[in-house]
Amino acid sequence: LFSGPVDFLKSAPSLKFLPDPEAPEIAFAGRSNVGKSSLLNALTNRKGLARTSNTPGRTQELNFFDVGRPPEIRLVDMPGYGFAEAPKDLVKRWRFLVNDFLRGRAVLRRSFVLVDSRHGLKPVDLEIMEMLDDAAVNYQLVLTKGDKIKPTALAEVLKQTAEQSAKHPAAHPHLIATSSETGDGIAELRTAILEAAMS
Ligand code: GTP
Ligand code: MG
Repeated sequence: LFSGPVDFLKSAPSLKFLPDPEAPEIAFAGRSNVGKSSLLNALTNRKGLARTSNTPGRTQELNFFDVGRPPEIRLVDMPGYGFAEAPKDLVKRWRFLVNDFLRGRAVLRRSFVLVDSRHGLKPVDLEIMEMLDDAAVNYQLVLTKGDKIKPTALAEVLKQTAEQSAKHPAAHPHLIATSSETGDGIAELRTAILEAAMS
């Protein structure tokens, strides 16, 4: 499926502009700069599909991408959770947009919550997870940028993060370690997406 057509559908600056729910959706959430857009490009094998940037705050709207024609799965790239330099009300607006979408979208099958391998779970990640737990929204943690640390360190973060994740009722028990740079874990993530979308 991921080697077939992938089309940018639309960008929604607020919930009023959401597309009609025509396909199962899979969303990507996480801190700014964690690598959401890059992961989406790696998954679909298309470098410039979702815009990426070294500067946090690149993605500012909910961006919908159709996988398959007609769409079999819709991937949703979202704005990141805050970063120090962003204007407070802007960060707040993104957070409401993302949270409301995650909580209220009936066709959403799973949210992947991305966590930087170098940093592990931060308070803001735990906040997203609690919000998803409360709303009983399925989610699964994905470690990103695995190429940036040594394999032994990666194994350690994976273990620790899995232990923390096990305490969260709505979290999928299995963690996936990825690198959009090397492609590690991408096939595994595709399988998880298919499984979630088809269930
Ligand atoms: P926002 O849209 O601002 O929330 O960020 P984002 O989560 O979409 O992050 P984005 O994909 O734009 O990536 C941020 C930066 O990290 C970019 O410079 C990417 O090239 C880099 N990056 C993302 N994934 C990886 C990875 O797996 N390995 C390495 N080495 N760099 C990565
Ligand atoms: Mg982005």
